[in-house]
Amino acid sequence: MNLLTSSVTWKKLEQLAQETQEDRISDYFKQDAKRFDKMSVRLGELFLDFSKNKINDDVFKALIDLVEHSSLRQRRAQMFSGDIINVTEKRPVLHTALRNRGDEPVIVDGVDVMPEIRASLDKLKVFSEQVRNGDWKGYKGNRITDVVNIGIGGSDLGPNMVVRALLQFRHPDIKFHFISNVDGQHIKKTLKNLDAKSTLFVVSTKTFSTQETLLNAKTARRWFREQTGGHEDISQHFVAVSTNQAAAMEFGIAQENIFEFWAWVGGRYSLWSAIGLPIALSIGYDNFIDMLEGAYEMDRHFVEAPMDQNMPVIMALIGIWYINFLGAETQAVIPYDQALHQLPAFLQQLDMESNGKSVDINGDPVDYATGPIVWGQTGSNGQHAFFQLLHQGTRFVPIDFIASLEADEQTEEHHFALLTNMLAQANAFMNGDDSDGLLEYQSCQGNRPSNVLLMDRISPRNLGALIALYEHKVFVQGAIWNINSFDQWGVQLGKRLANEISQQIGESTQGYDQSTQGLMALVRKHVKS
Ligand code: F6P
Repeated sequence: MNLLTSSVTWKKLEQLAQETQEDRISDYFKQDAKRFDKMSVRLGELFLDFSKNKINDDVFKALIDLVEHSSLRQRRAQMFSGDIINVTEKRPVLHTALRNRGDEPVIVDGVDVMPEIRASLDKLKVFSEQVRNGDWKGYKGNRITDVVNIGIGGSDLGPNMVVRALLQFRHPDIKFHFISNVDGQHIKKTLKNLDAKSTLFVVSTKTFSTQETLLNAKTARRWFREQTGGHEDISQHFVAVSTNQAAAMEFGIAQENIFEFWAWVGGRYSLWSAIGLPIALSIGYDNFIDMLEGAYEMDRHFVEAPMDQNMPVIMALIGIWYINFLGAETQAVIPYDQALHQLPAFLQQLDMESNGKSVDINGDPVDYATGPIVWGQTGSNGQHAFFQLLHQGTRFVPIDFIASLEADEQTEEHHFALLTNMLAQANAFMNGDDSDGLLEYQSCQGNRPSNVLLMDRISPRNLGALIALYEHKVFVQGAIWNINSFDQWGVQLGKRLANEISQQIGESTQGYDQSTQGLMALVRKHVKS
């Protein structure tokens, strides 16, 4: 048995799970008039209400004991100070340095990385301002009207989600497109409506070796040349964001058009680096910095706030309680805000790529569940799709509701309906309905937990804080589970096999299992490489 599951604090939580099995969340409110005040935290314009969870004072205390007895403090200090905590890839994990707005140096291999980070931000500022104010011209002298980000995973989801979330801050004359899927229909459809003379491609790839991105980038380059009657010089229309300058240059990107970042920035944590270039192009450099400021504020809170008032720690512990002690398999994220419609997809990668692990940092198998299946989509759409299962199904699904309070003047009535729907749902999940006279199939048991996260408004700063909140939540859970949240060997396996299969499909398929061989033959028959 693993040290974690045999620890006193773990055993205590198992015992509490038994003892509170029949408890009802709604009774906790009857027993404690101050529950809402006690179980809510504010940081700036972010407010977390975690009172509608199946957690009483004893459980909360035991969860805090669990984190106090974990290596979190040590790991957190190691992360912020640049120690190698991604042990399998032998790297520090320093997305927090990217948004370090203080004066503290961050040392990696004996060198302070902060000057490099500031220089990279300066380059981002100059370029984003040139493009936004029209000084950056296409090869025919046109200003840039369309920016196409080509990337996948962390090189797509973060910027994509943020640009969409902050659409109201977008430069009015520049449109943004994100191409990620290797399915040619994705790029074909996007390019169809673009004018090469005023289009800027941002090839975003940490490694500059990802098959999907390179293929899309080559297709974009070919399209550009076709559209421009064979114009060879792509320097006004292609920039790259990568740690691999040599490969980007080999592709034909001018050295001065390469925005570099560092191996110690994990893909899913990279939107704070130059991978955030489309964000800066869309909302402007100052707003980009505001986003970093918001994340920095969350970083300080994460480091300084006591554990029992620490937003990411609390959210992580609530998740641990449900996953490890009450058997939850999934975590739903339901933003009641159309602007946040890409947030569940972003959080899916953040959480599932980070904590989808089954060995601990020593390589020993874990004997407890780790990261949940994260899923979701916007409310109120979800209400009319999958909420039925959440209300009356046999599964236990904790929910994070996320919303912004401030309404747009023209859509105030809509916003009111949106927010009241969210309140109604959170209430219904907790209280259910078993009023007299209801038939069996009509009654809802309730007692289904949720967090409500409110922002005053969706601003760059608040969004930065929200993203950092989830990053740290994932980090805390990883620390408690004693896993490496920063590698992704399962994904690497898929990448390697895709390369092998694409090379061998026309040659020898021996060595593959029968099914793969049969399918390879069918693919070969129908598709040329
Ligand atoms: O999904 C695995 C992954 O390696 C991510 O971490 C990364 O964001 C993505 O693939 C794309 O990799 P790259 O940025 O190197 O193209």
